[in-house]
Amino acid sequence: MDDDRRAAFGAHLVSTLTGGALSMLVSVGYRTGLFEAAATGPATSAELADRAGLQERYVREWLGAMVTGGFLEYETASARYTLPPEHACFLTGTGAANAAPMASMLRAFAGALPELERSFSTGGGVPHAGFAPHFDAVGATAGDNWRRIYDEQLVDGFLAAVPGLVDRLGEGVRVLDLGCGTGHAVTVAARAFPASEFTGLDIDERGIATAEAERAGLGLDNASFVVADAAALAPTPPFDVILAFDAVHDQHSPAEVLRRVRAALAPGGVFVMVDAKFSSHLENNIGNPFAALCYAISLMYCTTTSLAEGGAALGAMWGTETACRMLGEAGFDEVEVVDSPRPQNCLFICRT
Ligand SMILES: C[S@@+](CC[C@H](N)C(=O)[O-])C[C@H]1O[C@@H](n2cnc3c(N)ncnc32)[C@H](O)[C@@H]1O
Repeated sequence: MDDDRRAAFGAHLVSTLTGGALSMLVSVGYRTGLFEAAATGPATSAELADRAGLQERYVREWLGAMVTGGFLEYETASARYTLPPEHACFLTGTGAANAAPMASMLRAFAGALPELERSFSTGGGVPHAGFAPHFDAVGATAGDNWRRIYDEQLVDGFLAAVPGLVDRLGEGVRVLDLGCGTGHAVTVAARAFPASEFTGLDIDERGIATAEAERAGLGLDNASFVVADAAALAPTPPFDVILAFDAVHDQHSPAEVLRRVRAALAPGGVFVMVDAKFSSHLENNIGNPFAALCYAISLMYCTTTSLAEGGAALGAMWGTETACRMLGEAGFDEVEVVDSPRPQNCLFICRT
């Protein structure tokens, strides 16, 4: 037994347990409005509770964890708590930098843990519906994150990373967003490129209902949504551009979906698949600061929802090597892998 190593791991474990507990409280802060209230200026626990319309006793205990956990600062003399602006920028606001919705997504996984643990011995998995109520519409919670990302980075980041795509969208092409969830990428793109026609497809009816309500509210007539299984995508009508954001690895039949995507592309068409940027080999992911979190999310959601349907269960960590092999097997001879605006993702650009 190496005593230094033992002590270091003990400290690592305490910090891991603390991180798990604090991430639950980050979700509480996000959902109750405490971070937004704290960002408006220093306050005592009573003042903060009053600002947020909450019970002081709960707020005070939350503040205890937030101060000792390094989120807020406490001044003894005035008994006031402060959320520094350097912290507030990651915990408040409507931008993609606000990481608090991520904690809310992690919390959504906790409710399904008993069923997940059962699946370890029985096989099968937790279906998407097992994540209700937090995932009531597909990605409603995760979607908080991705909505912000689409608002800020879809057009100038993701789409601009594909040579020639923005010009083609401006001229007018037929676009499919496969596994569109609640459809925000479609509505953002449809507004930015009025000459193009956008279709969002997802198997989840509630996600599509949310998408359709947003489309109607914006009065967009160059966007439409359809509830369908991507594994049954027809070759006609063809699309000039097919997009898939973080959706292919979740499919029950990803190889079939990729074959059908290839068949549904018009000559000169392009398939742009945004997915996790990791290696298919565990040893290559050791030391990647995002890897443990993404393996955990993959286990708690991506892998188990696919296994619930008897699917391929690629998981979010299927990696670029497997992705490129499967794209090749689906008939994409030319696949270019480029960085995305987010370090956790990359784009697979597949031309016909
Ligand atoms: C991680 S979510 C991504 C959603 C969306 N692209 C986004 O970025 O917010 C994966 C999506 O794939 C959809 N999906 C899973 N299996 C599907 C299938 N067989 N056919 C169509 N969509 C499917 C899910 O319903 C879900 O909306």
